[in-house]
Amino acid sequence: MERAAVVAGLGGWVPPTIVTNDQLAGVLDTSDEWIRRRTGIRERRWVSPGQSTGDLAVEAGRRALSSAGLEDVDAVVLATSSPDRHCPATAPEVATRLGLGPVPAFDVAAVCTGFVYALATGAGMVALGAARSVLVIGADAFSTLLAPDDRSTRVIFGDGGGAVVLRTGSPTEPGALTGLNLGSDGSLSDLIEVPAGGSRQRSTGLPAKTEDTYFTMQGQAVYAQAVRRMAESVKETARRTGWDPAEIDRFVLHQANARILEAVARRLGLPPERFLSNIEVRGNTVAASIPLALADGVASGELRPGHKVVLAGFGGGLTWGSMALVWPRLAPPATASAEPAVASAGADPGPP
Ligand code: COA
Repeated sequence: MERAAVVAGLGGWVPPTIVTNDQLAGVLDTSDEWIRRRTGIRERRWVSPGQSTGDLAVEAGRRALSSAGLEDVDAVVLATSSPDRHCPATAPEVATRLGLGPVPAFDVAAVCTGFVYALATGAGMVALGAARSVLVIGADAFSTLLAPDDRSTRVIFGDGGGAVVLRTGSPTEPGALTGLNLGSDGSLSDLIEVPAGGSRQRSTGLPAKTEDTYFTMQGQAVYAQAVRRMAESVKETARRTGWDPAEIDRFVLHQANARILEAVARRLGLPPERFLSNIEVRGNTVAASIPLALADGVASGELRPGHKVVLAGFGGGLTWGSMALVWPRLAPPATASAEPAVASAGADPGPP
């Protein structure tokens, strides 16, 4: 019988420190009104001093394992672009801290598409029979990469972790992942970058300029690419899954900007209510964004068993990707320690 990777557990976690727009407006030339109007973000969580991406990943992973009713998995894949250290990968330490033993554990770096790439990697391991279960985590502490005085990036990003457990199952059961579509365009790699710190800069032997050690983004160009690439990827995943886009109940897209979600909905000619959004209180949490939106969506009741769901990410690289599944019935706890935070209009009555 054909094997499929099936979502069997879900968890999310955000650090306790809330940073409001007004707090940012107190130290940067910005305002609550500008941030809300241009991004839809009201507040975000940031790690506190000493807290790291690995800490976020451990908390999210623990909740996903508990939701799946498992204490062990055969592998850990961690999507992150803000690892605890440049070397080694963060995943092995996360696996050890979760008590998972000497399982294969590695990082996947695809910035805001990282979770979809990690999900594809984990699903591939299951489909090959290389693992019966995989913990797939997306976690980023991107606040640590932002220049203290850069209002254009500082208002957007939040920190967090989200995770799913994949297990071996059948392609026809709820939770089975399907319709994978991934892509990249390295000719636009400069649109989203941390210029210094990598081998290209270090091989010069010259010290990095401080400003080059921070994250930079060409906002408008990224915006246009995000809308185009996510809309195209969603359509391709729907086609590969054999679904008409109009019959898809929920779109769980990377939460980059509320206006990007609305623009993708418009481009696809679909009701915006079907696009889950927690950006108001999470901000852009990079690789954690999609699994956190799933966890918040389940907690709020916006995402329910039986829903036809498409996940889609877009980020630096450039990279993009989508997958589809029928949402399965999962055991709680599925959500973050913080309150559920989904704000889709909820006008759509939901599952078939
Ligand atoms: N507060 C106030 N003004 C700000 C600001 C802030 N936080 N950030 C930028 N501005 C200013 C700019 O300096 C610019 O001023 P100017 O016209 O005097 O030069 C003006 O606002 C417009 O800037 P612009 O970059 O055109 O704004 P925008 O409407 O495109 O919004 C983003 C900026 C970043 C919110 C938006 O481009 C975006 O969301 N891009 C995609 C981000 C994304 O998806 N990133 C992650 C990809 S995974």
